[in-house]
Amino acid sequence: MNRREFVKVVGLGSAVIYLSGCGLTAINDKTDEDGEVSAEESVSQGKTMKIVVINSSPHSEAQSTSRYLAQKFVDGAKTAGHEIFIFDAAHEDTHPCQGCDQCGMDGACIFDDAIETKLMPQMLKADLLVLVTPLYYYGMSAQLKTVVDRFYSRTTRLSGKKSMIIATAWNSADWTMEALKNHYETLVRYMSWQDVGQVWAVGCGSRPMVERSEFGDMAFKIGAAL
Ligand SMILES: Cc1cc2nc3c(=O)[nH]c(=O)nc-3n(C[C@H](O)[C@H](O)[C@H](O)COP(=O)(O)O)c2cc1C
Repeated sequence: MNRREFVKVVGLGSAVIYLSGCGLTAINDKTDEDGEVSAEESVSQGKTMKIVVINSSPHSEAQSTSRYLAQKFVDGAKTAGHEIFIFDAAHEDTHPCQGCDQCGMDGACIFDDAIETKLMPQMLKADLLVLVTPLYYYGMSAQLKTVVDRFYSRTTRLSGKKSMIIATAWNSADWTMEALKNHYETLVRYMSWQDVGQVWAVGCGSRPMVERSEFGDMAFKIGAAL
């Protein structure tokens, strides 16, 4: 299939998003005929980026569809020399925001858990945040939402970053990812993030399904083209 059939430009220096028969994906809009992108015209403009990948599937590395795509993205980003930090929101010690406002939206959380001590320091210095989730009842997983709600403690300091989302689902109807896409794009708007890519891997409900899909290759290419 011709890659160009999928491509629609969404912004200068940002990723390109396309809708295929089975989902959305992204590659850089500055690709040449061979799909290569020059360093100066890439999202990173040739600089090393600090990338934080937040996995949220409770499935193991060997079973998870979303972790599979996240790893493909990471493999691609490593070829471009970027620094990666991966957080496992499903298996780390995390707590949902209590709404106590002790943080005043700009300070330490009352929970001295993995979000506060491991993830937050990495997110604060990151250039790109990558949200990775299985589709759960047409939204993000509770494990990822727990992390997202904890953005509250550093809302301003997390704003202005680059962001990306990778989501997998069993269904493949054209509306499968609609609500999650809406939520992600609202988050991007509120946080003043620059969206650099969206991988909507519908029809990828099990490991064999995602492994034989085109999404792994696409996730790798997005990472490599940053
Ligand atoms: C609690 C739960 C809710 C789910 N909800 C949906 C859904 O609303 N739509 C859908 O297409 N798939 C749904 N699925 C299927 C998963 O999104 C799908 O199997 C995905 O590939 C799992 O990714 P993972 O292996 O990375 O966890 C659900 C699965 C679970 C366990």
